[in-house]
Amino acid sequence: MGKIKLNPGTMLNPVPVVLVSCGRGEEANLITIAWTGTVNSEPPYTYVSVRKDRHSHGILSKEKEFVINLTTKDLLYATDFCGVKSGASVDKFREAGLTKEPSSIVGCPMVAESPVSLECKVRSVHEFPTHDMFLAEIVAVQVREELMDKSGKLRLDKAGLICFNHGEYMAVGEEVLGGFGFSVMKPSTKKRKQQEAKNKK
Ligand SMILES: Cc1cc2nc3c(=O)[nH]c(=O)nc-3n(C[C@H](O)[C@H](O)[C@H](O)COP(=O)(O)O)c2cc1C
Repeated sequence: MGKIKLNPGTMLNPVPVVLVSCGRGEEANLITIAWTGTVNSEPPYTYVSVRKDRHSHGILSKEKEFVINLTTKDLLYATDFCGVKSGASVDKFREAGLTKEPSSIVGCPMVAESPVSLECKVRSVHEFPTHDMFLAEIVAVQVREELMDKSGKLRLDKAGLICFNHGEYMAVGEEVLGGFGFSVMKPSTKKRKQQEAKNKK
């Protein structure tokens, strides 16, 4: 059987699903975002694409900063909740049971319960018909201490991260299928890597 041609659409899957915090003090809000990604390595650039009618759109336009908080299985309920309720009528930090933690550079809080928070400063806004893309520099990265192993390596595989796959939240599996560049690795390097992976467990 061959492929069936569908209408053009946003069919890139899976995508990240993140909790974006924005706004200062009492105005602090959370918005669930799937339209995000990496744009540049050095300096590190990312973006969030936000519909113009979102409450958070006004905050982002005014404050020009936000925090991307990675989401986990433990944060699943909060992630969905913050994506269906508006900060215009609900204090989402309180209702979702999340803790505001001061960021190191930007004025909006991080989500304490998130394993990794990326503090971002908006460098430009790109307008599209439905969404505006807030292109931002990642100015600080905050990682929960317990995710660092004894050798100082970040163990994101232990974080219980989730992603968004065609309308559904899915756990990022624990099965490692291969490391970066495995397809061209020398057998001796492959053996060493496999041993390292075993020792890690
Ligand atoms: C899984 C998921 C992903 C979402 N991704 C986006 C997105 O990328 N951009 C966007 O504008 N809205 C997105 N939304 C919708 C907003 O999170 C939602 O409208 C939210 O209630 C807006 O909050 P606010 O009014 O407090 O800004 C998403 C919702 C869910 C559940």
